[in-house]
Amino acid sequence: MISTKTTLAGFEFDNCLMNAAGVYCYDAAELDQMQASKAGTFVTKSATLQARTGNPEPRYLATPLGSINSMGLPNHGLPYYLDYVSQQQIAVPNKIYFQSITGFNIDEDEQLLAQITASDFKGIVELNLSCPNVPGKPQTGYDFETVERILTRVFEVYQGPLGIKLPPYFDIVHFDQMAAILNQFPLAFVNCVNSIGNGLFIDAATETVTIKPKNGFGGIGGDYLKPTALANVHAFYQRLKPEIQIIGTGGVKSGQDVFEHLLCGASMVQVGTALQKEGPLIFDRLTAELKTIMQQKGYTQIADFQGQLKHLD
Ligand code: DOR
Repeated sequence: MISTKTTLAGFEFDNCLMNAAGVYCYDAAELDQMQASKAGTFVTKSATLQARTGNPEPRYLATPLGSINSMGLPNHGLPYYLDYVSQQQIAVPNKIYFQSITGFNIDEDEQLLAQITASDFKGIVELNLSCPNVPGKPQTGYDFETVERILTRVFEVYQGPLGIKLPPYFDIVHFDQMAAILNQFPLAFVNCVNSIGNGLFIDAATETVTIKPKNGFGGIGGDYLKPTALANVHAFYQRLKPEIQIIGTGGVKSGQDVFEHLLCGASMVQVGTALQKEGPLIFDRLTAELKTIMQQKGYTQIADFQGQLKHLD
């Protein structure tokens, strides 16, 4: 029997696959579809204190090799998602869920976490430090001092399992510096990576940008992202203390992509652009394709190869 089970933050998940925050998780109708899918669990849309409509449309475009988005964090506000997860905790009690949150400053992060503490949420928090699409707001993950300050406060006020979603880094020194900061904290995981911020996808025929917010600049996902995502997964897998697990996100559209993320060190793998394109049935296909690869290689469980990427010495 081949198993794609995994363990994260001490919890077991039937499948290592799930959605990436932002995709199929905006409202109860989408989350219901995730809940009914083959995915091991789901993460909600990154929730803010107040509900947000997000940026003006068009704000998402699927391209031949991926996607560009500038959604601008449309969401129903944290209480909506806590309420939804609370219902699922009762409906399917032995399953653990992820709540993504993002404050616009450190005090908002603290308030969001206070709301979670006051609720009956039993799952894992993913703090999004990497949204590229709020006009005037930089991606927190590129401001190393702020990341350190946020995490210091977060772990003063929050006791539950919590990880962070990082933007992609492109420099070995940045991997070293960020890992040194993250290793000071009892993080359950880091999720590598969010979209590549502020790409531009243009239409040569009409000579215009393709999405409206920020004059067309938006987060890039899909095939374009995979090598960068794998590099970030592997770089942090090598640098972080073993208690901090990795979630791999970026460019996953086949079982082989899932296998590669796991091989680079991910314990769990999230799907964004390809899930948006194919819908939650993609988890059946990805799971079957991953199992075929594992079978061909003689692996029966993820632990047989997870993190075992070989280097050429
Ligand atoms: O690409 C992204 N889009 N990453 C985020 O973290 C947020 C999202 C949005 O809502 O714009």
